Amino acid sequence: MSDKAQTVWNKLAELPKPTLAELFANDPDRLLKLASRLDLGEEGIRFDWSKTHLDDAHLEKFLELAEATGFRARRDALFAGAVVNPTEGRAAEHTAQRGVGKEESVEQALGYHSRMAAMVEAIHRGAMGDVKHLIHVGIGGSALGPALAVDALARDGAMVDVHVVSNIDGAALEAAFKTCDPATTMLAVASKTFTTIETMTNAESALDWLRENGVDDPYGRVVALTASPERAIEWGVDETRILPFAESVGGRYSLWSSIGFPVALALGWPDFAEMLEGAAIVDRHFRDADPAENLPLRAAFADQFYARLRGCQTRAVFAYDERLALMPDYLQQLEMESNGKSVTMEGKPVDGPTAPITWGGVGTDAQHAVFQLLHQGTHIVPVDFIASIAPGHELDLAHHRILLSNCFAQGAALMAGKSSDDPARAYPGDRPSTTILLDEVSPVSFGALIAFHEHRTFANAVLMEINPFDQFGVELGKEIAKQIDKGGASFDPSTEALLELAGIG
Ligand code: F6P
Repeated sequence: MSDKAQTVWNKLAELPKPTLAELFANDPDRLLKLASRLDLGEEGIRFDWSKTHLDDAHLEKFLELAEATGFRARRDALFAGAVVNPTEGRAAEHTAQRGVGKEESVEQALGYHSRMAAMVEAIHRGAMGDVKHLIHVGIGGSALGPALAVDALARDGAMVDVHVVSNIDGAALEAAFKTCDPATTMLAVASKTFTTIETMTNAESALDWLRENGVDDPYGRVVALTASPERAIEWGVDETRILPFAESVGGRYSLWSSIGFPVALALGWPDFAEMLEGAAIVDRHFRDADPAENLPLRAAFADQFYARLRGCQTRAVFAYDERLALMPDYLQQLEMESNGKSVTMEGKPVDGPTAPITWGGVGTDAQHAVFQLLHQGTHIVPVDFIASIAPGHELDLAHHRILLSNCFAQGAALMAGKSSDDPARAYPGDRPSTTILLDEVSPVSFGALIAFHEHRTFANAVLMEINPFDQFGVELGKEIAKQIDKGGASFDPSTEALLELAGIG
């Protein structure tokens, strides 16, 4: 950590530590100061940090930390398309996909998007054959975003039935085969690098399935979504069926590029464009808002408070909305692959915790499974509750009233606690939570919600002085798996025994 940042952290550690009840009692304006609405045109999102331990004194010092860690310069560099990922010598231009960033990159993204829009529209028109199903094979950032977006936004009826298949376990692909008709199935091969073993193996098996089921030209059913078009061509995809995107778009930030093809196909281009616009609103806010008013930065202040000042090793996210059930999965990659690092931008060891472990689930289910630990366990877990004022169904409104009542009750209970003469029945309280309340789950608010989390992740990285855009930690396991697959290499006795038992190697 830089000396400047260390000085601020020392001051932060010395601040008084009032409880949440004291914070509310001492400041009648607390809610006003710590709850904000992000306007998205006709809708919006409310962020309420009042049930966290952030107060004026902490906010002031965290703003100093942002200054000490060069927040403004790193943010400017991000939007300027500068090299913000020095270990790989790359920019990180996901915002350009939404129209906010370096001019040439925005123009390139617009060009790629119009190619994608044309293909989506041609498919919807029937100009590319009868397409009723799409099997989208991809993994990590090439699957999690599309799976989440389709699940969140296409529940009322997708224009094309989308199956996102990621796992190399053949059972995943087989499940898709069972519900798709090969005569009307298109295959999207989504891989930034076009080398990922899971995706390429799944793609080969999907081609075999098409072939075995009477499709004479299975490559004619393929669309490649990639930043490596030359590899896609080499693999057999016709150039006209490649939807490229820029190398400077990171895998876990790629939903906005052609990796979002299944989303556009399921929803229609206008909705996909609205999702981009929702994200762009957050980009402009993050780029232009003063640090004191900057919502993703404020979220990062709360994250850093709990990770570094309170030693919380995890952060939980509970979506009180079935449509957002995949949010924790998505955020796990975004946050843990970005910020699960041990060295600073300077390549020196970090001297504190980096990304907390992100976990979570869907409310109210999680209440009946893991909330016991949140209320009475020995771990303090900062919780994010995400909910929508408008329901995502047409059943009796009682469902939604009970859902939201439970969501808000959990935050209140975590904070208030309850005393009892019987220690087993006492709740310590003073447990933090943040509530993120959408007016509705729409393409605009969904895009905004995801972009908010991207920038929150980046802001956390800035405050920790780390690079969120590389992911070398995933490589070693891949290399060893390759050695095993190739055969001839020897490993530790435990691994050797496992290989022998499974008849591998
Ligand atoms: O192994 C990690 C990773 O590189 C992720 O960062 C990425 O999202 C995923 O694999 C898939 O990579 P690709 O899109 O190149 O297939």
